[in-house]
Amino acid sequence: MILLEKIKNVRDQFNADLECINDLKSWEDIKSKYLGRKGIVSSLFLDIKELDPEDRKVIGKALNDLKNDLQTQLDSVYGKIHHRKKEEHYIDYTLPGLPFFKGTRHPLTQAIDEMLSIFARLGFDIAYGPEVETDWYNFSSLNLPPHHPARDMQDTFYVDDGIMLRTHTSPVQTRYMSTHTPPVRIVAPGRVYRNEAISTRSYCMFHQIEGLYVDKKVTFADLRGTIELFCKMYFGKNAQIKFRTSFFPFTEPSAEVDVSCFLCQGKGCRVCKHTGWLEIMGCGMVDPNVFQAVGYDPEKVTGFAFGLGVDRSVMLKLDIHDIRMLFDNDVEFLKQF
Ligand code: DAH
Repeated sequence: MILLEKIKNVRDQFNADLECINDLKSWEDIKSKYLGRKGIVSSLFLDIKELDPEDRKVIGKALNDLKNDLQTQLDSVYGKIHHRKKEEHYIDYTLPGLPFFKGTRHPLTQAIDEMLSIFARLGFDIAYGPEVETDWYNFSSLNLPPHHPARDMQDTFYVDDGIMLRTHTSPVQTRYMSTHTPPVRIVAPGRVYRNEAISTRSYCMFHQIEGLYVDKKVTFADLRGTIELFCKMYFGKNAQIKFRTSFFPFTEPSAEVDVSCFLCQGKGCRVCKHTGWLEIMGCGMVDPNVFQAVGYDPEKVTGFAFGLGVDRSVMLKLDIHDIRMLFDNDVEFLKQF
């Protein structure tokens, strides 16, 4: 019964080897050492061919038992290794969380909110109008009758006959006056559209804030005082402003407003094209024809209006050199503000 002795030895040796299994690789090695095609158990099976039938029965059974036992034990060790491997991938809930980027408002939204809050402190209400506008409100009611050459100043995107994307926020003036009686004191922010060649300084869509103040005896001095106060509050108390005479069909007299360049404090630099000044809005005293268009009596009321270029002002204040950056939605760029 040398073979029975051998089987016992194999068991002992196997049990010792089993203790050494610590990963999948060593498990596989042990498995093939004992149960592989050329493994120890297979070679024992070869030996029984030499035995006489009686012994072969006994030893055969012992060998089969050995083989099954080893297999069962290997299976159980495999289960443990596998479980441990899974545990290694478990999430550690005690680790600090990954940092996440908190969203911010778009620089234009921030600027519009800041500008509106300045005007709110001066007593202006906020009004809104549609971005798709009729010819009447966008042009005719503003003293720009059909064929008026000034219509060409604003290359228009037409949606349909007499329907267009508004080219400025001025139509909110006549919309508002059509449904309200004086006194009127509003600011109207919003997008406007013009079919302009796209470049670093102009885009096919941009933002304006329209202002309108109508009451008895409103004067150009009120306009000037309001604009000056606004500029100092928004651009800083050292900002200087300058009114230049200009022309708009809906105001008479009309002016354009420049602020001293924030970058060079008026000394002249690349941003202000070495003039020391930056143009930020058009304004003037409301033309009597506009009052007539909305049913106000120009003998009884006067008013001032202005149209402020928001994108331009934001670019100036934040030192942004390409207007397109405001509309590219590049988060890396936007999150700086
Ligand atoms: N609507 C003009 C434009 O977009 C700007 C403007 C000029 C608005 C004078 C006004 C104004 O209200 O009085 O070019």
